[in-house]
Amino acid sequence: MEKEVVVSGIRPTGFLHLGNYFGAMRNYVRMQNDEKFNCYFFVANWHSLTTHPDTRELQSSVHRVIAENIACGLDPDKVALYIQSDVPEIAELYLYLNMLAYKGELEKTPTFKDKVRLQPDNVNAGLLTYPVLMAADILIHRAVKVPVGKDQEQHLEIARNYADRFNHRYGEVLPAPYAFNYGGELVKIMSLDGNGKMSKSENQMNTLYLADDADLIRKKIMKAKTDQGPAEPNSVKPDYIENLFTLMRLVSTEDTVAKFEADFNASSAGNVVIRYGDMKKQLAEDMAAFMKPISEKAADIQNNKELLNRIIRQGADKARASASATLKLIRSAIGMDYS
Ligand code: TRP
Repeated sequence: MEKEVVVSGIRPTGFLHLGNYFGAMRNYVRMQNDEKFNCYFFVANWHSLTTHPDTRELQSSVHRVIAENIACGLDPDKVALYIQSDVPEIAELYLYLNMLAYKGELEKTPTFKDKVRLQPDNVNAGLLTYPVLMAADILIHRAVKVPVGKDQEQHLEIARNYADRFNHRYGEVLPAPYAFNYGGELVKIMSLDGNGKMSKSENQMNTLYLADDADLIRKKIMKAKTDQGPAEPNSVKPDYIENLFTLMRLVSTEDTVAKFEADFNASSAGNVVIRYGDMKKQLAEDMAAFMKPISEKAADIQNNKELLNRIIRQGADKARASASATLKLIRSAIGMDYS
């Protein structure tokens, strides 16, 4: 049976955090080990230029993201793990797709409108055509499954439109890609102060990053928001308390979780059994133990330039083999093959 092609991109801005790990990363690793799939995962460094970042840091961010992804379990022998700018075929497909992309549609994309609000002085054409480049990332491998969060649904709809338009105009070449997640159980991890989600770049003292050392993890967890305890036995947990339990379920033993659950349920005003200070101490130790091998492995890879280069080249070779095969079909469908 032919394998289904999977593509996903990771932005190289900011540090990978626990939300990324238990959300996206675990899905990637599961897909990589699933016989049904042929996976392409890449660092979206062209996309990051749309916001004009300080490019002096970009190279080390890209290296770090590659290293962190491997430390989280991606195996460069099983998947193609590559850097977007190493695959010039994507840029050529982006050019063709731009002819099928309408300005009015792109202007209506919610992510574009958000960016216009955030950076009114830098509304460049790359920002407007962000979804065209993303469609090229996906369609260049003729992918059908794209593991992404809810916030990317709109971009996938756009990619499907372009595939459809291409096929109508030039002939059937591109399959329609869809967002994909195993079942519904994506874990949501909130910021430690209870305000929104953990973030790659904002709110750093309330986000646990894979690169944090044990002391910093302890410091952040001990500062996490709690309260005086529930007013009645078996109360519904406020979301910031639920978040601590969510984190504990991810890294602590079942017995530990059960003990604090029981303490919480037995607590009421005037009879507070649960000690959040103890709970956070336990969580901090278990979290530090969980993160240690991951951050050590990521640091080892980052410090081993030879290994890193080998991995990057291996990924680029795999990605280009697939991309050039698609581009050949595309050129021939359009009639751009002259020799
Ligand atoms: N837009 C995605 C994000 O913000 C990153 C991305 C770029 C991507 N190209 C992609 C995701 C292709 C999936 C497929 O997270």
